[in-house]
Amino acid sequence: MSGFATVGAASDAHSNSGRGRLRHDLVFRRLPAELPDRPVRVLDAGCGTGAMALRLAAAGHPVTAADASDGMIAAAASRLSARPELATRVRFLNAAVEVPDGGGERFDLVCCHGVLTYLDEPATAVARLAGMVSPRRRRGVLSVLTKNRGAIGIREALRGEHTLALDPIESGSGASVGHLGVRPRGDTAEELDRLATEHDPTPLPWQGVRIPNDHRANEWAPWPDECASALATEWAASTRDPYRQIVRLVHTLARRASDGSCP
Ligand SMILES: C[S@@+](CC[C@H](N)C(=O)[O-])C[C@H]1O[C@@H](n2cnc3c(N)ncnc32)[C@H](O)[C@@H]1O
Repeated sequence: MSGFATVGAASDAHSNSGRGRLRHDLVFRRLPAELPDRPVRVLDAGCGTGAMALRLAAAGHPVTAADASDGMIAAAASRLSARPELATRVRFLNAAVEVPDGGGERFDLVCCHGVLTYLDEPATAVARLAGMVSPRRRRGVLSVLTKNRGAIGIREALRGEHTLALDPIESGSGASVGHLGVRPRGDTAEELDRLATEHDPTPLPWQGVRIPNDHRANEWAPWPDECASALATEWAASTRDPYRQIVRLVHTLARRASDGSCP
């Protein structure tokens, strides 16, 4: 994972940018709607520099923040050190999403955001992540955020980067160079839902993340009132077709069905 150690600063800058915050805001607005109104055990697999892990910890949840890169874990730990009140709620783990740990630990919310896109294929990781969602009586949730295969090339085209846009649009390769300078792949929400179903969790309605504001420049830094109206527009479009079909990122969720026993 040395590659990610070297893009850590760029990843953190993106996470804190206008587009990055919009992404976190949209995901963080959806997650509580799918969780019980009490602290739940969270796994953030591929936590990166810890933006979502810290938001979830600040909301009261105990979080295991895992990543395959020591450099990213160090960056997340550094971010946590600025929030000492959250220190007891966050623990770090060096682990790859697709490698079984054998520990048998289960979580009520398993997040894997912005990671599948860097893997050669999604099935192995989804199988492992679904296996870590807590058993039926706790109605655990799997939350996956990744690049939308169906819309690759749209941002580039809207920005006028026609050379970058043409290849993925013509070839249907499902991959394009992203903001970190690597060439991630995309998946479809339908395929991710199908993979989750193979391992039991039942898909919830998927949501799109970033449509009208996805082509904004990396430097886009909206004022709070613009942030609020951008979020409102994105949220409205995120559940409605045809807008949802051309989002940059698909956010799929799946929940284990209740077996009727007490939590
Ligand atoms: C773009 S960052 C996303 C970070 C964070 N989840 C977010 O949504 O902002 C991708 C992260 O995935 C991690 N990663 C990449 N491949 C991984 C793997 N196979 N297992 C675990 N983490 C991985 C990288 O080290 C990096 O921290």
